[in-house]
Amino acid sequence: MSDPIWPVELILDRIDELAALPHGETRALPPSAYLSEDLHAFEKERIFARDWICLGRAEEIPKTGDYLTGMINDQPIFAIRGRDSGVRAFANVCLHRMMRLLQGRGSCRGITCPYHGWAYGIDGQLKGAPHMQDRADFNPKGMSLPEIRTDVWEGWIYVTLDPKTVSISEQLEPLREVVGRYRMGDYVQLVTQDHLWNTNWKLLTENFMEGYHLPVAHKATVGAWTPPDQCEFPGDVHEAFTYQLFQKTGDAKLGTAHPDNTRLEGPWRTTSVLPTVFPTHMTVLAPDHLWYLILRPEGPGQVHVRFGAAIAPEVLAATSDLEAFREEVIGFFDRVNEEDRFVVEGIYEGARAPLSEAGPLSWLERELHDFQKYLSRRLSGYAARKPKTRTHKPGKRKARQTKVA
Ligand code: FES
Repeated sequence: MSDPIWPVELILDRIDELAALPHGETRALPPSAYLSEDLHAFEKERIFARDWICLGRAEEIPKTGDYLTGMINDQPIFAIRGRDSGVRAFANVCLHRMMRLLQGRGSCRGITCPYHGWAYGIDGQLKGAPHMQDRADFNPKGMSLPEIRTDVWEGWIYVTLDPKTVSISEQLEPLREVVGRYRMGDYVQLVTQDHLWNTNWKLLTENFMEGYHLPVAHKATVGAWTPPDQCEFPGDVHEAFTYQLFQKTGDAKLGTAHPDNTRLEGPWRTTSVLPTVFPTHMTVLAPDHLWYLILRPEGPGQVHVRFGAAIAPEVLAATSDLEAFREEVIGFFDRVNEEDRFVVEGIYEGARAPLSEAGPLSWLERELHDFQKYLSRRLSGYAARKPKTRTHKPGKRKARQTKVA
């Protein structure tokens, strides 16, 4: 029988133990890792305030003044396309009395606070403030919204609150060597949706990372096209990400290169890459489409899920009825997302049950072990071996992972 929620030190010790085990001997995280308020506070400090967090796709804000909003921990943020066509991000909080400035996504020529009307340029500079001229010490010049460190990598907007964190481009360079050939930054967005699910964010990250559940939990959708023994893992453990490769079977409705795709050759034309950029950005990158999740914890028991799907440009060009295609894609992924929601909310419920225990993992859940190592490094400083980089080629479909007996 599981104990009540463990103290955070005990959870961290257990994560360190699991991270240090060989792949074939590790087990799932203990229930307390998903339930603990104290661990959640520690994750905010040690993970979310330090790592790069994905806000969305740069193509969502193509024109000057286009913006989208997001959060890191309790910090509202907006990313905006500047006049120089670059993307910058700022604190989304007014310099007067801290009203949030922008909501959702949209386009603007400037930003006006909805409370008292202080006006900002799209470069974050305060331009004017009504009825403040009588204050001798008030000078809008030189007052600007705090800028948030931003980088655009392969079409994704990443932000971090930590000025010292190694650049995301540098951290993801070994991943770029795998995914760069797809040119996913050119894929065209079809849909974004926002959801709130009743589960811990780590359960959703873990769910994404393993294909073990596909033939069962997704048997009505993607499970039939993605036999789990067709997956391949990279040979190396990386600090900031993990991924696996999937080979789609011939009858897959989605997931193979369009005849007009001249970017991908050989086995890459039927290969999907599933990168997880820790902590909360996950993508299924296929030759003809991609879909992604961006997570934002709302406490240990709730997670905001931003879901999106995009298609390769040659697929778009060959589509005669875009609206019908879009509806079909949305309907399909709605079903996939509901299947995932059912399991990750079910696991969260199970983790709270007093008789629950963390079981052994399959070799197909190898990336959960990568995630444990990441958590250990971030939360406890476990000294994992320094990751090596190596370009990965698909083709050998035999997973390198040692199977659990
Ligand atoms: Fe923004 Fe007052 S809080 S103008």
